[in-house]
Amino acid sequence: MEKEKNCCGGLSGKVAIITGARRGMGKADALTLARAGVKVVVADISEEECQLVVDEIKKNGGEGLAVKCDVTNKSEVDGLVKKAIDKFGKIDILVNNAGICQFKPFLELTEEEWDRTLDINLKGYFLCAQAVAKEMAKQKSGVIINIASVAMGQMGLGMSGLAHYTASKGGIAALTKTLALELAPYNIRVNAIAPGAIDTPMSSSADMDPKVLEGTLSMIPLHRMGNAQEIANTVLFLVSEKSSYITGSIVVVDGGWLAG
Ligand SMILES: NC(=O)c1ccc[n+]([C@@H]2O[C@H](COP(=O)([O-])OP(=O)(O)OC[C@H]3O[C@@H](n4cnc5c(N)ncnc54)[C@H](O)[C@@H]3O)[C@@H](O)[C@H]2O)c1
Repeated sequence: MEKEKNCCGGLSGKVAIITGARRGMGKADALTLARAGVKVVVADISEEECQLVVDEIKKNGGEGLAVKCDVTNKSEVDGLVKKAIDKFGKIDILVNNAGICQFKPFLELTEEEWDRTLDINLKGYFLCAQAVAKEMAKQKSGVIINIASVAMGQMGLGMSGLAHYTASKGGIAALTKTLALELAPYNIRVNAIAPGAIDTPMSSSADMDPKVLEGTLSMIPLHRMGNAQEIANTVLFLVSEKSSYITGSIVVVDGGWLAG
């Protein structure tokens, strides 16, 4: 444990909020940052499931706090920030990770489905980033990581059946670059991670039609899905002082998918 704390770029004693952290990548981020000595606020729609992650953090000797927060709800987001400050006194790191991904052909996509995806995946990132950045600006330091996707258009991919999702992820890429400009004067770095196909409850290889899985793997030079820990390792680097000159970047973690 001590060795890990020392090797992780000055993270010991920092405070992080991670959204969507009851499972999947958010949970891996929470456990990984906690192992590096970060006090982690585990936020998601189920407080009970967040508490299970906090219990695991505590069992490993770390510190954490479970908070129920729907990221589309501004008063819950403001409450999340207040609870983090009340408990730990500051916020150094935000990982905007909460998201949904539901396949629907464009011609059948309803307005409600569009709004729900954009509300969680994009508006939620705005609400959390703004509420946390106001605190970070006071202390003149902080790091924000936005989880985008290779399915973000422009420098990434379009993806059939995911017009609403790809629009939200393209929005996250644009938001990341603009926030990097606006928040740099406050010494706040803002970066995005664009994962490829990662084996989590959202896209579980076990639940995939073997033909769809093989079709996906055929596009990935490393010919396998990534795992949540591989994203958490990237988060660890981007929130540490080892990445002190990186801001406004979109780090692609995709087994070579976009290289093809
Ligand atoms: N799995 C992949 O292949 C993949 C690829 C690229 C990007 N991503 C992105 O990575 C992030 C994490 O996804 P994951 O794969 O771990 O999926 P996941 O479904 O396991 O985790 C997403 C989490 O977000 C939470 N969430 C959903 N709506 C919420 C809301 N309104 N408020 C708060 N929390 C909410 C869920 O409860 C869940 O715990 C997402 O932003 C996703 O779009 C995933």
